[in-house]
Amino acid sequence: MLWWLKMRDSRMQEKKVAMTRGSSLFNTNCSVCHGISGKGSPEAKANASASQAYPDLTDVGKRLDREQISTLLTTGRGRMPSFGHLSKEDRDALINFLLKTETKPASTASAAPDMHSSVITSSVAEGADFPYMPPYLNNGNTQFRDQDNYPAIKPPWGTLNAINLNTGEYLWQVPLGEYPELIKKGLPPTGTENHGGPIVTAGGLLFIAGTYDEKLRAFDKKTGKIVWEYRLPAGGFATPITYMANGKQYVVIAAGGTRYGLKSGGSYVAFALP
Ligand code: HEC
Repeated sequence: MLWWLKMRDSRMQEKKVAMTRGSSLFNTNCSVCHGISGKGSPEAKANASASQAYPDLTDVGKRLDREQISTLLTTGRGRMPSFGHLSKEDRDALINFLLKTETKPASTASAAPDMHSSVITSSVAEGADFPYMPPYLNNGNTQFRDQDNYPAIKPPWGTLNAINLNTGEYLWQVPLGEYPELIKKGLPPTGTENHGGPIVTAGGLLFIAGTYDEKLRAFDKKTGKIVWEYRLPAGGFATPITYMANGKQYVVIAAGGTRYGLKSGGSYVAFALP
């Protein structure tokens, strides 16, 4: 998966817009995910109802009120981290910035700063009561995708690899995961971006989930051949575990979903041989 990552000069002065406390805080704390423009970034269409990976905040006032944003900033939610460490003043400044109710700084600013033109004039930032601003900032995380929203590179887009740790050689490499709609079109499995971990049992099976298609799979550890797969109630992005109870061996995985804009879940799913 390719990502566009761009550095930008945080002291750029294209427009004479002063940095407010809120926009400054947004730049340092939020823009890495929600983008400097606050527009977020689109997510893979792993399923049709997939929400955005990083939501667009430019119209957040239509969905959330002051109270709700404040709570969200304090508690976090899903992959949105908590900002409970920010002072109440900073939280208020951020909320005012998001809701566009921030009072203009008593400076030369000609236009109210908004997320589309948040540019810092160092003269204003200097000495003012603003948080520390590094000279360069990340422009936001944007995945490099094609017009159909698939990774804009040749598949495989995700693989499972067995490596001989003594020699460093690849023993086998297979695609991990698939897009059902591409399979339907007759394409071989492309693999998907994946975030999971494998376990290997004494019996020579390797269990791993971690893919967009929400499946848990068992591979033959010798060959990389898929010997079993099961569609979980939600994506499984944890490493499975295995245990014995009453003479039976189980494999269990947490199906929490949520990643990649997939639906969220809240179950542990356990499997045993009959
Ligand atoms: C590490 C990435 C990340 C950072 C940093 C981050 N967010 Fe988020 N934010 C998210 C994600 C992901 C969601 C969606 C959460 C969900 O799935 O419910 C979100 C959701 C939100 C929402 C709710 C949007 C809606 O329409 O429901 C608000 C408001 C928000 N973030 C504000 C902020 C602010 C303000 C900051 C900086 C103080 C910030 N975020 C920093 C990732 C991030």
